[in-house]
Order: sequence, then structure tokens, then C-alpha cells
Amino acid sequence: MKTASMILDKDFRIGEIDRRIYGSFIEHLGRAVYGGIYEPSHPTADANGFRRDVIGMVKKLGVPIVRYPGGNFVSGFNWEDSVGPRDRRPHRLDLAWFTTETNEVGLHEFADWAKAADTEVMYAVNLGTRGPDEARSVVEYANHPSGSYYSDLRVKNGAKDPFGIKLWCLGNEMDGPWQMGKKTAYEYGRAANEAAKLMKWVDPGIELVACGSSSREIPTYGGWEYEVLSECYDNVDYLSLHRYYENRAGDTPHFLARSMEMDLFIREVASICDAVGAKKKSKKKIHLSFDEWNVWFHSSEQDRALYKSDRWGRALPLLEDVYTFEDALLVGAMLITLMRNADRVKVACMAQLVNVIAPIMTREGGGVWAQTIFYPLMQASAFGRGVSLQPLIECPSYACKDFDEVPILDAAAALADDGGLTIFAVNRDLTDDIRLQADLRAFGDLQVTGHSVLHHDGANAVNTETAPDTVVPVKGDLGATDAGRMSVVLPAFSWNVIQLKKR
Ligand code: AHR
Repeated sequence: MKTASMILDKDFRIGEIDRRIYGSFIEHLGRAVYGGIYEPSHPTADANGFRRDVIGMVKKLGVPIVRYPGGNFVSGFNWEDSVGPRDRRPHRLDLAWFTTETNEVGLHEFADWAKAADTEVMYAVNLGTRGPDEARSVVEYANHPSGSYYSDLRVKNGAKDPFGIKLWCLGNEMDGPWQMGKKTAYEYGRAANEAAKLMKWVDPGIELVACGSSSREIPTYGGWEYEVLSECYDNVDYLSLHRYYENRAGDTPHFLARSMEMDLFIREVASICDAVGAKKKSKKKIHLSFDEWNVWFHSSEQDRALYKSDRWGRALPLLEDVYTFEDALLVGAMLITLMRNADRVKVACMAQLVNVIAPIMTREGGGVWAQTIFYPLMQASAFGRGVSLQPLIECPSYACKDFDEVPILDAAAALADDGGLTIFAVNRDLTDDIRLQADLRAFGDLQVTGHSVLHHDGANAVNTETAPDTVVPVKGDLGATDAGRMSVVLPAFSWNVIQLKKR
């Protein structure tokens, strides 16, 4: 057994956790919409064709916001195709995923689904093949009460009340050569600024996310953020970050260390935002929207084969990663990273939600089940509320590819309004338990009321429709708390949620 010490204090305040960091994402891609949330012939389908069993799982997961409708898809999307009588909506070739989009589910249907799933829509506009004009029109359609062309069209199409969409993305990954209408940083910064101005003139209550780099690895990273923000700083509220990790090499210690790179990424982008703010002598701070993050690599072979065999198919099973237990641990560490950056990251979306690189899987005509990565997000969303506190940790570390010193213990802490404290912890050590000794004297007389552990001896263990409970959280050791000192065991290779309340 290894040991680790932690000191927590109310004054070690990072910032208020914005609950939108537990958001997710649904793109018109693969079986996310058709055959995922929407399956009119399913026994559980509601009057709108949405699967009630999937809605139940989304509610259990507790995602406060869902980014929609893309992703790469949005860069060739005409929002007008997705409203009005369904039988008159056009079928289009989607050049992002080489499939056919039927537009059976569109803005009205998705807004209804979001309501049923207790979540909010974060809507992306197309700044790839389109521009500021269409962007301001869709804001008018969605949010203006009535008395104008687009708002009256919404009323005519069945929604008397505006949808009231608060958060909008100004395009998607506009730096990527794979994107329809890719732009240089200057071109995109100008387009984003003009779109932002018009959109906020239509509805001054909205908030806007400009596209940062599509990944930290892209050669234009850094310069892109600086130049884009130099053009649109005054009219946007957030800058986006996207990051996916993979473990093709089967190097688990390295894989579990990747959350440290995510942390660095966040701090770098925040610095660039502040550099532009300083240059402009602005009082305004740009916050971060980490609106695509996850593990993504398991499905790539299968996807290549599908593109060859079924170009222009509808709702193909694309990006259907089956997540392992070790993926869930990295996802846990990524959630810890988001919480520990609560002062800057105000929005984050696990990409994605159903079937496509997703925590929730479905079989058409069949069941719905939770993948391994479902559980850390569910628990973070349920208990990672209030103020994020910086834990001071001393523990052993290890070295691996790219990282000289990886602490075996990664942790975040959330202090709720009622004085309850929750500690989230990943033990990265593959073989040794950790005895965690925490000094919590600043919080008075606390006791551990719950300790949930996600662990499996097999790094590659997965959940399936027939074995959905292979990797699920179980009760852990409640340890001992005495005069503000807690001692608890974190099993080797595990995700832990420790809840404490006043005695
Ligand atoms: O989430 C899958 C894809 O990953 C998104 O469409 C795109 O934005 C990113 O490259």
C-alpha cells in the first residue's frame, strides 16, 4: 500500500463550478439521432418518436446542456431544412460524414427532446458554407417572440413560445482542413465577429463561443487563438477547446497521464485569451468552453470499412467506440481537470451522448445501456457542485513517455452550499492501493457518508447490452474520520467519489 496526504481548506478556492461543465453533445452523425434518441417504431417511443428509455438514461446521467447539431456536420447544414412540415424537408448529402441527412429531426423536435430530457440546447451555427446572415436568422427564428419574418415562421411551424436558446457556437473547428468552408484565423475571426455582432443585436441575452483550435496538436495552435480573438474579443464570451485521447499503444500509465496535458492545454489557452485582453487593455475576461472531450479511437477501423461499403447511407453505425474500464479512469481524470479549472472553464461537453463516442448505447428495437464512461460523468454531475477547492497533495509519482512526474493520485474537491464536501480521486497506480490521509480540520467535524469506487481488474473490461453491469460503481471503504482527519483506502487503478457531511 502507498500513502498520500491531502490538505483541504475553504480558502483554497478555485472558483464556483458552473454546472454546464457536465454537458454533452449530439451531432447529426451515425446513430446519435436516428436510431439513438429517435426511433419512432421503438416500444418505448413517445408521441414525437423519441425513445423514453434513452431519455431516462440521459436524465440519470444529468447533463445540463447538449451541444447540437454538430460538429463537422454543422459546417454544411442549412438550418432552414430542419424546420416546417416534415414531409417537405429536403434530404441532403452530408459531406462531413458522407451520409444522407433526412432532416426528420430538426430544431423543433430537438428542442422538445431537450425539454423531455431536462437539459438545455447549446446551438451551433454554420460558419463554414454560410455566414452572419444565416446566423442572425436562426437566432431570430429561435429566440425572437413574434412579429418578424422568422419568428412568425416559428409560430406558424407550431412553437408559439420562443425556444430561448442562450448559448451559441460560432461554427465548428474552422481551422481543420476536413471542415467544409475551412478558414484562416483572420478569415474566421472576421466572420465570427460579424456573426456575433448581428446575433447579439437580434438577442442581446445570448452568449457566444468562438472556435479555438480543433486540437492542441494542429500546427496553427496558439497563433489561431490569438488571431481569432484579436478580431472578435469584444463580441464573444467563450473560446472553445477540443481534445480526444487514445491508447493505441496499450501504454496505460501514459494514457492515464494524458489529463495532465489537458490541464496544460487549458492553462495555455487561458493565457492566450488574457494576452489578447491585455493587448486590448480590456476589462473583459474570455472564459473557456471545452465543448468536445473524450476518449476516441476504438472505432476507427470499423468506420473506415463502413465509409467504403456504404457511402451516403443513412444513420450508419459510425464512431461506435466500446469503452473499456481504463477509458473510464481517464474520463474521471479529465473531469477532475475540468473541476480544477472551474475559474476558467465554464462549459464543457463530453463528445458525444448517444451511440457516437458515447456514454449511452442503444440497439434498434432493443435495449439501452451505460458504457463504462457513463459513471464518472454521472457522479461528477450529481456531486461536483458548489465551489471547487484546490487540494494540496503529496504522493509518489511515476515517469512515462512525455511525462517525467505523474502523481499516482489525481483529485478535485467540491464544497456544496450545505457544507458537504465531495472529493473525486483517481488512483493511477495499476497495482497498489493508496491510503489517503486528508487534513480536513478547516471544515469542522466531518464524517464520511459515502465512498463509491469504480474498479475492475481488467483494464479492457466493457459493458454490453447483455452484460451491462460489468463495470459499475460499488461501495468503498468508509475509512475513519477523527477530529477533522480522514483516512481512507483508494484501491489500485480506481475512480473514487468520497462524500463527507457535518457530523
Ligand atoms: O465528435 C466527433 C467530431 O470530432 C466532431 O464532429 C468534430 O467537431 C470533431 O472533429
